[in-house]
Amino acid sequence: MTEAPGAHPTEPARPTGNDLHLDLPATGGRRSALMAALREAIRTGRLAPGTRLPPYRALAADLGLARNTTAEAYAELVAEGWLTARQGSGTTVAERAAPVRSDRVRRPIRRSGPVHDLRQGRPDAAAFPRTAWLAAARRALTAAPNEAFGPGDPQGRRELRTVLADYLARARGVRTDPDRIVVCSGFAHALRLLFDGAAPVLPPAEQGPLAVEAYGLGFHRGLLAAAGVPAVPLPIDEQGARVDELARHPDVRTVLLTPAHQFPTGGPLHAGRRAAVIDWARGRGGLVLEDDYDGEFRYDRQPVGAVQGLDPDRVLYLGSTSKSLSPALRLGWMVLPDHLVDRVLAAKGEREAWASALDQLTLAEFIDSGGYDRHVRRMRRRYRDRRDQLVAALAANAPHVEVSGIAAGLHAVLRLAPGTERSILKAAAYRGLAVEGLADYRHPAVTAAAMPAADGLVVGYTTPPDHAYPAALQALCDILPPPA
Ligand SMILES: Cc1ncc(COP(=O)(O)O)c(C=O)c1O
Repeated sequence: MTEAPGAHPTEPARPTGNDLHLDLPATGGRRSALMAALREAIRTGRLAPGTRLPPYRALAADLGLARNTTAEAYAELVAEGWLTARQGSGTTVAERAAPVRSDRVRRPIRRSGPVHDLRQGRPDAAAFPRTAWLAAARRALTAAPNEAFGPGDPQGRRELRTVLADYLARARGVRTDPDRIVVCSGFAHALRLLFDGAAPVLPPAEQGPLAVEAYGLGFHRGLLAAAGVPAVPLPIDEQGARVDELARHPDVRTVLLTPAHQFPTGGPLHAGRRAAVIDWARGRGGLVLEDDYDGEFRYDRQPVGAVQGLDPDRVLYLGSTSKSLSPALRLGWMVLPDHLVDRVLAAKGEREAWASALDQLTLAEFIDSGGYDRHVRRMRRRYRDRRDQLVAALAANAPHVEVSGIAAGLHAVLRLAPGTERSILKAAAYRGLAVEGLADYRHPAVTAAAMPAADGLVVGYTTPPDHAYPAALQALCDILPPPA
């Protein structure tokens, strides 16, 4: 590689590819236009100090210039101090050619998190099955047909839908076939598609108002509010959502429930209520949206099957990898009543724009090869262990604090004396313990008459890595109030 004249002894340079995008004005001297374009790229920081420029011959060919012109432009910029030429490492942007910094105030980068993290919603990130996932990705990529690398089908890869149909039938009691499944990027995406997609999915009567559980995730309430869907809260008791209350709302045709594990209070929907909500949907011509966010994680007995199995035409089942694998994957699925498949596809648009086809193929391979089942079984043991440690720590340090919602899932609820939640959260923050209160999850429209507010802590016991868990439990026990 011949470089610009005036080369210096070698020093490592930050490599670039040979491609360098430069806009040269069509008229005027070529050398000065190239110099101006390079200066501008350096000044604005597009070419950072230390970046190696393409060889002048390559740049000349790319830009349709004479080699002399680019060689001279490089040499002049070296002379001006913008570039440095070194024998063996080519021409680089000079270290002192620092870009002009923007005056815009940058948001500070928050590096330090809480000392102890017991927030719910995060599977143990250290337990992501990296090796097995990589192996599945390698197999999936090797076997993928060329068409997989083209624009994606909005319904999702058939390979994934096929294994999902089998898996969901086997593990969750879902009744479906691959044609009724639409892949999406998770539950939140499914909600957006249903209520805020490119085309309306639900007929106007089913579009809203929507009945939701009186306790749920504020983020999902926000999505519905942003889509203009009014939400009617259903009170919850120890048997789950009070679906009998649906009868009091003749304008409601759709209800969103977490039947396997009420989020966040923790119990399964009682068998009688599962049947009752199906009867309601049939009688009302309505629809049940089933959020099965962590259905695989039940510890003391067989997981509760999906309500969808009771009536696949009245229940729209929504699942995701966010709890079982990682919320970073952004992969989920909608199992639809037949008449809604085309409508969801219309809401999604012509091409797949969310769920990566390559991740879909990897997940298909991961499930098909048994890797997903093995991972879920391993995590179930691990999380049950974590749950047991939490219960043991409470029994030893705060036996007066009632813990509920422990039969399943990735979090538990600690009941607190009325009026104490806020001050306990303050004490937690003071200790560097991140944990959430039940009040955050309460629907703002629920009246005390409909359902008295309960004070409590929502404790995510799967968040910390193993080495940090005992200290987090200790911090939790330390902030709990002494017996009354
Ligand atoms: C109640 C509930 N539903 C669904 C999900 C899954 O959401 P997503 O698939 O958008 O990550 C979560 C979070 O993991 C959740 O807490």
